[in-house]
Amino acid sequence: MEMPIVADVLVHRSIQITFIQYHHMVDHSPETVADPVLGDAILQRTSEAGSFDLDETWHRGPSLLSAQSSKGLARHLNQFFALRVCIRPPPRVHFSLCSPFRSLQIRFPFTLKRMILTLEWTSEGVRFIDQTKLPLEETYVIATSYSQVADVIVTMVVRGAPAIGVSAAFGISLGAQKTDAATTEEFAPEFAHICAVLAGTRPTAVNLFWAIDRMKALFAKLQANGASLAEVQKALLADALAMYDEDIAACKAMGAYGAELMPDEGGVLTHCNAGALATCGYGTALGVIRGAVERGKQIHVFADETRPFLQGARLTAWELMADGIPTTVLCDNMAASLMRQGRIQAVVVGADRIAANGDVANKIGTYSVAILAKEHGIPFYVAAPWSTIDRATATGDQIPIEERSPTEVTHHGGKQLTPHGVGICNPAFDVTPAKYVTAIITERGILRAPYSETLQAMELVAR
Ligand code: MRU
Repeated sequence: MEMPIVADVLVHRSIQITFIQYHHMVDHSPETVADPVLGDAILQRTSEAGSFDLDETWHRGPSLLSAQSSKGLARHLNQFFALRVCIRPPPRVHFSLCSPFRSLQIRFPFTLKRMILTLEWTSEGVRFIDQTKLPLEETYVIATSYSQVADVIVTMVVRGAPAIGVSAAFGISLGAQKTDAATTEEFAPEFAHICAVLAGTRPTAVNLFWAIDRMKALFAKLQANGASLAEVQKALLADALAMYDEDIAACKAMGAYGAELMPDEGGVLTHCNAGALATCGYGTALGVIRGAVERGKQIHVFADETRPFLQGARLTAWELMADGIPTTVLCDNMAASLMRQGRIQAVVVGADRIAANGDVANKIGTYSVAILAKEHGIPFYVAAPWSTIDRATATGDQIPIEERSPTEVTHHGGKQLTPHGVGICNPAFDVTPAKYVTAIITERGILRAPYSETLQAMELVAR
């Protein structure tokens, strides 16, 4: 029997609504308080609108329910449906309304799609979905100090250039909140140390340094203006939260611009994970794919597995499946063959750093995909927010490439794959020369070669 939707929907940073379908009435937890008023308000919206447009009402929301799932839902009319609303920031209040909701089910023509919460500022600390455990386990880690945030970045519990940048900003805020210093002046050397520790986590993704520099500039300004430590703490957190929101907005804008470049139907290859899990939500390359799908394009995603850390096989596949976007995982060495068979109409990837001349550093293997695309006459697109563009670095040759532990190559799932003592190389990124890049999709618009000129022009326009 098809299961109806059992879903978590994050609708806003401060308001989370969870719809849970219970087979038995089990929600008797002591912290749960019945609140028919709030429940009614939501039900009323549902009936008024005919469809409950969470996107419009709450900023983020679901897509339309497939007919098949609607029937599945209808089959469960006799089961209990619970609606829980959790309002943040703390004190965390849970409202719950449990009832058979027979009429509600008829008026419920939409899917409650899961919103992936890659990272989140909470009253307890910074909460991360543990990307080392996905897709088999969905667990969360709470970092309660800046050094724990640094660990989480190094160990790739959180990864992906934009997500790393915002994590660092949250880490700095956490450091400011937890300080024993009594004044801004006393905190200043500690602030510098916190920034240095976070900057030492991963070298390639420039978003990390962009976010840290932005926090440093803010701190310097506050210090110069004689701000109190309490004011500094408040302002740093506000800016980190602003970066979080800006990142999602940038991804949505890239999605809108990039959707136009996607084929109306066909296969789109992506490498690594440049999705919701690599950002604060929606994704860059996967944001472009989401944007295209939302506009009715029939896209089938081919996700390179992305050796050795398997971001494609584990993360891209997981998050696209959660959205119901058709996805096929392929081993990294299969792309050429699929291209030759005419199964790939476009490639879209993310970036960790884009040099002033348009050279793109991204996950190792991206360069070979770009060459393959060119050979087969397939457009190769790079989607990245402006915070990934590093005009201070002239070409890709100057981009520092992180070398990661050999064990990522020698071992998988705790099992050794290679003979003891064999030489291993594990560069986490490579550089794709600008000449292979058909277009760069940013939140400011689409750029084409010559990138040294178009990047500069767009920078000037933005100023
Ligand atoms: O090593 P990772 O997993 O952090 O590498 C991630 C990538 O290479 C992504 O493609 C890039 O950061 C862009 S994410 C929007």
